[in-house]
Amino acid sequence: MKNVAVIEHPLVAHYLTILRDRQTPSSEFKQSIDRLSYLLAAIFYAELKSEKVSVITPLKPAAGEKVKQSVVLLPILRAGLGLTRGFIDLFPEAKISHMGLYRDEESLKPIKYYFKFPALKDKKTAKVIVLDPMIATGGSVIFTLEYLMNMGFRDINVVSLLCAPEGLKAIDNRFDAKEKKYFRMLTCSIDEKLNDRGYIVPGLGDAGDRIFGTI
Ligand code: PRP
Ligand code: URA
Repeated sequence: MKNVAVIEHPLVAHYLTILRDRQTPSSEFKQSIDRLSYLLAAIFYAELKSEKVSVITPLKPAAGEKVKQSVVLLPILRAGLGLTRGFIDLFPEAKISHMGLYRDEESLKPIKYYFKFPALKDKKTAKVIVLDPMIATGGSVIFTLEYLMNMGFRDINVVSLLCAPEGLKAIDNRFDAKEKKYFRMLTCSIDEKLNDRGYIVPGLGDAGDRIFGTI
């Protein structure tokens, strides 16, 4: 799929390796995913649109810039919460919405249990950042993209840690060329495959369970 970018950055690779390691304790797992969220936010926010402003320093007037784009963060619960801190801390003006989904263990289809989104006037230009560390079958992201496109959003960005090729293929097959202009995906790795239980291989296990200690 054309609109997928894989981030190459030594610190991203460093922290991703800590997350993959089965021996990483929960405390270090949380700390590493938090640090990754700051790195991803800094990389992603480099493209925000800003406008020229002027300020007066203690010495004289100076030219500056101010971000002018509306940003809405949309973590997919639960694991998406693990990627939010950096995005919020680096740009606290972002609005925070939530999509509550879990995968049915048999069918692997996403089941929606919660959705909360701010009222926005500038839907066509607002930047929506969907946060979900794991894209496995692609079902959760497809559901979320359909939802956001139906609401009228046209600048949707899916930020993840790991993708399975099967999930990317499912997303590619689901949307036509016009719809694909409305979203793009930023990830840290495209892994080998999905196993028969819908887990990413080699992956990092169950992201939600490892973040929240519910293993
Ligand atoms: C995980 C993960 C993604 C989803 C990906 O959620 O956080 O949202 O699976 O799988 P998919 O691409 O096949 O849809 P999970 O159902 O484990 O819920 P949790 O985050 O609450 O643990
Ligand atoms: N969700 C996870 O947390 N891990 C996977 O490997 C697949 C889905």
